[in-house]
Amino acid sequence: MMEIVAAADSDERGLSLLRVVNILQRVVVFLHSFAVDKTRGQTPTSASKTQQMPGMSKEEVAKKVKEICQELVLSQEALKEVCDRLQEEINKGLGKESNPEATIKCFPTYVRELPNGKEKGRFLALDLGGTNFRVLLIELGDKCTMESRIYAVPQPIMIGPGDGLFDHIAECLASFIKERNLGTELLPLGFTFSFPCKQEGLTKARLARWTKGFKCEGVEGRDVVELLKKAIAKRGDVKIKICAVLNDTTGTLMSCAWKNHNCRVGLIVGTGTNACYMEKIEKVELWDGDLEEPRQDDSHEFLGVIINTEWGAFGDNGCLDFVRTEYDNTIDRESLNPGKQLFEKMISGMYMGEVARQVIVRLVAEGLLFDGKSSDILQEKGSFFTKYISEIESDEDGDFNNCYAILEELGLNNATDADCANVRHVCECVSRRAAYLAGAGVALLLNRINEESVSVAVDGSVYRFHPHFHNLMVEQVSQLIKPGIKFDLMLSEDGSGRGAALVAAVASRTSAMR
Ligand code: GLC
Repeated sequence: MMEIVAAADSDERGLSLLRVVNILQRVVVFLHSFAVDKTRGQTPTSASKTQQMPGMSKEEVAKKVKEICQELVLSQEALKEVCDRLQEEINKGLGKESNPEATIKCFPTYVRELPNGKEKGRFLALDLGGTNFRVLLIELGDKCTMESRIYAVPQPIMIGPGDGLFDHIAECLASFIKERNLGTELLPLGFTFSFPCKQEGLTKARLARWTKGFKCEGVEGRDVVELLKKAIAKRGDVKIKICAVLNDTTGTLMSCAWKNHNCRVGLIVGTGTNACYMEKIEKVELWDGDLEEPRQDDSHEFLGVIINTEWGAFGDNGCLDFVRTEYDNTIDRESLNPGKQLFEKMISGMYMGEVARQVIVRLVAEGLLFDGKSSDILQEKGSFFTKYISEIESDEDGDFNNCYAILEELGLNNATDADCANVRHVCECVSRRAAYLAGAGVALLLNRINEESVSVAVDGSVYRFHPHFHNLMVEQVSQLIKPGIKFDLMLSEDGSGRGAALVAAVASRTSAMR
């Protein structure tokens, strides 16, 4: 190449001829690649047209990919800073005067007692918070048995009028009760409603704002228990007694605490992310309930109150901008709730796949993946599901079976092992960042609780299905936890069901003691 240019420099006519040949060659290459791409469902990006990054070795490409991904890699100093800022924001949330301006709202849940393992009875539970809605029948005794049915919440209902949503919930509940002939009993019901709510009692929760994929009009600011009761009353065919409304984090904590008396934190890393923890009542300036109630029986030490932090909103005041990237900004801008839930958008399943997709699209555009050729599917927002990250990282080292299958689903049929290794690197950076951020949050809560040995109950699809999320979180919590505190992260299944029944059961025990 250098030689041709040098020769051409010395001869004007030669130069023109070379230019023409060169242009013709490019046109032929471009037309050829376009024809090949069409048959594979792939289209060349602008990068492939201009053939950027020609002649780079695999090693050079991998190095460049790593450089580009570097902004997703958080240093220990940055994570320590995240931890310190979270402390400040939680303090603001708990303070009476600072709360109205606080981004992390720290809602007291009115759950002040943990289960003692002896709870008994039959309960219904409703679970709304992700893409599906569930109705459950739970029997608590020495063991816990459960029957449940999942109902889809169609997208138009998720973003339609609030009445439509609650009518849908009531209809699913009615059909569940009818199918099982439960109509004759007046069953106590726990309602797991996994959105930020200002609780005004165990059965009163005003929706502060919608998060995740929901945006139903006419619900923000209203008591969701009232709305549910109204929808049920309108039908007239269901009799239930709503005993508790709770967040999924509270359910997760309660469900684990049933058998594990060290449990003080409930964490969700699923469609959204959030955590709750047991806080000493004197640290909750916000608390406007009776400091002495509920009285504890002899077997119980006084614990405090579960605080639903709603940490998904961490960073909404700009305090996390130092770790956010252009990808996070784009995701936020294009979301249903711009400017809101910025911590959640870096961590949870609703967004992780999209962060990875954006990085991959950029790498293709720079000619660093798939020979610079993208596919129509890859270019579509949301097409790279978060579960792909878990699947790609589940491939054994050096084996890319899942990765190839996923890339084919995305219409990318010309991938090489080197491409797969680079795609895997992107996934690892995105999931590691999420796990480390969640780990920094957990470390802060454990440091606040400051007990010798604490269990953290965890649920959610990302935590459950990602092959390394648990280990990555443990690694990060260990980095930031005060010396001397022991902890473990425990998968706590079915918090939204069993946890709801337990909150209802503990609530009836507490009120019986009054
Ligand atoms: C969102 C909700 C929160 C919930 C979390 C996990 O962050 O606002 O209430 O706990 O998702 O489902």
